[in-house]
Amino acid sequence: MAGTEEPAAILRRDGARLPIARTDVVAAVKAGEVVLVPGALRQLGILDQIVAAILTAVREVAGPTQADALRRLGLERIHEVLDGAQLEAALHQSHARLQPRYPSFLKAIGVEALGLRRPFYAHAVQVLRFLAPHDVAARHAELFLQKKNLGRLDPHAPHRDHWFDVPLNAVNLWLAISAVAEDNGVTVFPDAWAAEVAQSGRYVRGDQLIGAPLRVACEAGDLLVFHGHHVHGAVLNTSRATRIAATMRLCSERPVAPSAAALDGGCLWSPLIGTRFEAYAATAARLSWIHLLERSKQTISAGVGALEKRVGGAPLRSLGRLTRRALRYRRGDSPPGRATVPRPLSVDDPAALADGQIAAIDDTRCAARIGGRVFVFGRRCPHEQADLAAGYVKDGRVHCPRHDYPIDPTTGRGPCETLAPLPLYAEGSVA
Ligand code: FES
Ligand SMILES: [Fe+2]
Repeated sequence: MAGTEEPAAILRRDGARLPIARTDVVAAVKAGEVVLVPGALRQLGILDQIVAAILTAVREVAGPTQADALRRLGLERIHEVLDGAQLEAALHQSHARLQPRYPSFLKAIGVEALGLRRPFYAHAVQVLRFLAPHDVAARHAELFLQKKNLGRLDPHAPHRDHWFDVPLNAVNLWLAISAVAEDNGVTVFPDAWAAEVAQSGRYVRGDQLIGAPLRVACEAGDLLVFHGHHVHGAVLNTSRATRIAATMRLCSERPVAPSAAALDGGCLWSPLIGTRFEAYAATAARLSWIHLLERSKQTISAGVGALEKRVGGAPLRSLGRLTRRALRYRRGDSPPGRATVPRPLSVDDPAALADGQIAAIDDTRCAARIGGRVFVFGRRCPHEQADLAAGYVKDGRVHCPRHDYPIDPTTGRGPCETLAPLPLYAEGSVA
């Protein structure tokens, strides 16, 4: 299929789309590009299979009338057809049905849509996501945030995939199962690509500046491809549609994992997928020298740690520190560049801000100059309290850095009725 269909396109933050051959997609992605492959999932029959699995799950959870209604209305309106508990159950069942088929989807995408000629490795962890409009999801927050189901119902905050024990060289495949709009889609942060980024747990630290995101809108059946090293996340869904996507990853070379434990999660060697030897596909990755090396490093490190604990003393503590430093996981396959991303601006006098700049005044207040006016407003996003001083300004709105919620600085409000308005202070004044 590669090379004969509509070409893929490199996406740029300014809206530009640069055509690229499908066979060049993986190389471009490894160099930091974000690439859209239009219609790939429709052409491979993957879209039909996933939609059929979701409709079957809806029929089981809510009955044939609801399944027919959903087929008629379109998947984007699933939150109108199902209540919160049914939505949660339908996601769980859809994902459970699809799980055995994901490896073959990955193989088809690698071989047919991306034209990979050499064996590759399919990461064995895949996720299906139903992202309902926030005002709907907020009514079921307790249920949706339990994460007891197999899929995900809440927007992912900015992160790198290897912070979740995914191989360092994994390429992210983001499958659009419903239509995706800019106000319910995925975000990728190009400014953070080659930068050191501060973490808090498995996410970007709240006060870490990562710049404005590339926001992606696409059709059901499109495939988005970007490197797992890219800082990426999801937009808070301020649209009226539920966005449905599946995410999976592949490594075009031997998987390089941040730890042996990460490889234990499973990578499948593509030549065995879909054959009667598929059960052994994960063994190929485990036999790699990288896995053996990481496993030995883990054993040595654990041994020195145990000795340090049992015997104690300064020499052993130094030996432990040295060992850990020497055995740190290989970073060789993650993209180069270690520029430091600047922290949010801080100002005493907001009048000094340039147009489009945003800055902290103190712990509770922020200021921004927008269209020549200076606005002073609360520093914490009403969604999950992210630091708006690390946000950015676009089209007259202040955007939250975590899930891109746009807030009108003249009213303190964004599009979601369930989110409180930001406190506003006297325009241009910090008194
Ligand atoms: S949009 Fe989620 S914390 Fe701001
Ligand atoms: Fe991710």
